[in-house]
Amino acid sequence: MPWPGCEGNDRVSIIGIIGGSGLTSLQNLHITHREMVHTPWGVPSAPVVFGTVAGREVVFLPRHGNTHSIPPHKVNYCANLWALKECGVRQVIAVAAVGGIHEAMEPGRLAVPDQIIDYTWGRKSTFFEEDLRQVTHIDFTEPYDDAMREALLSAGAEAGIDLWNGGTYGATQGPRLETRAEIERLRRDGCDMVGMTGMPEAALAREIGLRYVTCALSVNWAAGIAPGTIEMEEIERHLKEGIERVKLLLEAVLPVL
Ligand code: HPA
Repeated sequence: MPWPGCEGNDRVSIIGIIGGSGLTSLQNLHITHREMVHTPWGVPSAPVVFGTVAGREVVFLPRHGNTHSIPPHKVNYCANLWALKECGVRQVIAVAAVGGIHEAMEPGRLAVPDQIIDYTWGRKSTFFEEDLRQVTHIDFTEPYDDAMREALLSAGAEAGIDLWNGGTYGATQGPRLETRAEIERLRRDGCDMVGMTGMPEAALAREIGLRYVTCALSVNWAAGIAPGTIEMEEIERHLKEGIERVKLLLEAVLPVL
């Protein structure tokens, strides 16, 4: 069912970029048009932006809306992913701010995680709920697309952008940050970073056949990893500085995807 403005986009693999905190726009995106896409699950967080980056067709969607007004537990993940798919997207790069748990995830560090643990609750987390011909269980052993991970890592290496290869993303409910005990539990579980948007986004992408990878930017030490409380100024500083490297990374990887 092609949406207005999306017709004919099926011919190539358009890259979808889901922007997280701090990434509500892309400087080097040459915008061709914007479209509010209506899906069976409602509307996405914002009108979808169509354009090119480094000559590659991309579709951009800010996860928290254009004015960063939608908190992680209120994001309509189903509508966001469905809208991207309807616009011809087959590969998604999700950008996400995280708190660092592993010592390698100091604030400012970028990572391409390879696993997820889901601690979220009460979010609509599947497309396979109603009008089913058959109960469906997706394989989710490897939640991220391996080839896309490799592409990000090698584009990063070539562009001189430091990226941590791997790590487990713990997806928490938010919007509050965690307690020291919660982070200690996540660490014992094997989480290396913590964020609020990784799930159900990754699973929904898999359900509708979208290849999906996350570029995680550490913006603070998770609760209790460093002494003291977590200050918003610290988060904003690391976000502002780190997002510039994320943009460089996107420019480097898009032509090779
Ligand atoms: N916890 C959860 N989500 C986050 C954090 C955090 O410490 N930092 C950025 N997103």
